[in-house]
Amino acid sequence: MKLKQYVQNLKSELLQVFDEREAENHLSILLQHFFKLSRVDRVLKAESEVDALKVSEVEKAVEQLREQKPIDYVLKETIFWGFPFYVDENVLIPRAETEELVMLVLENEKELDISILDIGTGSGCIPVALGMERDYRQIDACDVSLEAIEVAKKNAKKHKVKVNFYELDILKSLPQEPFDVVVSNPPYVLEEEIESLQKRVKEYEPIIALTPFGDPLTFYKRMLDEVEHLLKKGGRFYWEIHEDLGLEVVELFKNKPFDQIELIEDIYGRNRMVKARWLG
Ligand SMILES: C[S@@+](CC[C@H](N)C(=O)[O-])C[C@H]1O[C@@H](n2cnc3c(N)ncnc32)[C@H](O)[C@@H]1O
Repeated sequence: MKLKQYVQNLKSELLQVFDEREAENHLSILLQHFFKLSRVDRVLKAESEVDALKVSEVEKAVEQLREQKPIDYVLKETIFWGFPFYVDENVLIPRAETEELVMLVLENEKELDISILDIGTGSGCIPVALGMERDYRQIDACDVSLEAIEVAKKNAKKHKVKVNFYELDILKSLPQEPFDVVVSNPPYVLEEEIESLQKRVKEYEPIIALTPFGDPLTFYKRMLDEVEHLLKKGGRFYWEIHEDLGLEVVELFKNKPFDQIELIEDIYGRNRMVKARWLG
């Protein structure tokens, strides 16, 4: 079959599952992933024949998309910080707002001779992106999920970044020494919100990555309660937060020796990050 015809057929199939914008987006990703074809190639190579083997691989992928499995899990790849990251159902698919958290750390942490810990690292997107940008002295990352740690290690290797990964349940244990910087995008979705999430999130993404169950501030409270085990004197927290809980998170710092407490908006003007310095 000629590429032109194949693209039309594939688009019609995708339109049975997605709206126009999403179908076009998925079409571009599939053509790029399986055939290495850009949008321009679709025109330039319109008359070329498509590889039948690849066509059957795409069919299998479309079958999974019909089940509303996220395309990132279907292809076992997502783009974060402009680079491909391996993902599977053991880790949250990194979100665009987390790139803003990485940017916040990079903007504020220019000194290289520092140690950084990422709590709840998932795919390892945060420490790997930080390590790709800056040669920080030490980058550690932990997660309660051993399967997530395996994924994160793959990504560090893929991008040739040195990160010390370890399994750690931050609600029960603590790292052996404090850090200059602790960054975290912990589970913060409210338990009652889970039901209203899209099927592809609630049925495919790991529930322990989404919600702490019960109190949505669990992880922030724990990090503050144990701050002396997490941060050196003068150390900084950088957290991603639920957009509706900004004021509640900032309130947690009251009566504690912190300064430079800032609630930071994402590019859409939503309260999505908090930073603060511990005075010890
Ligand atoms: C919101 S996801 C963030 C993943 C990744 N950092 C990102 O930004 O895409 C939260 C992560 O916290 C981990 N997690 C959940 N409970 C934890 C615990 N008690 N201790 C350490 N990590 C935990 C989950 O496995 C998950 O990888």
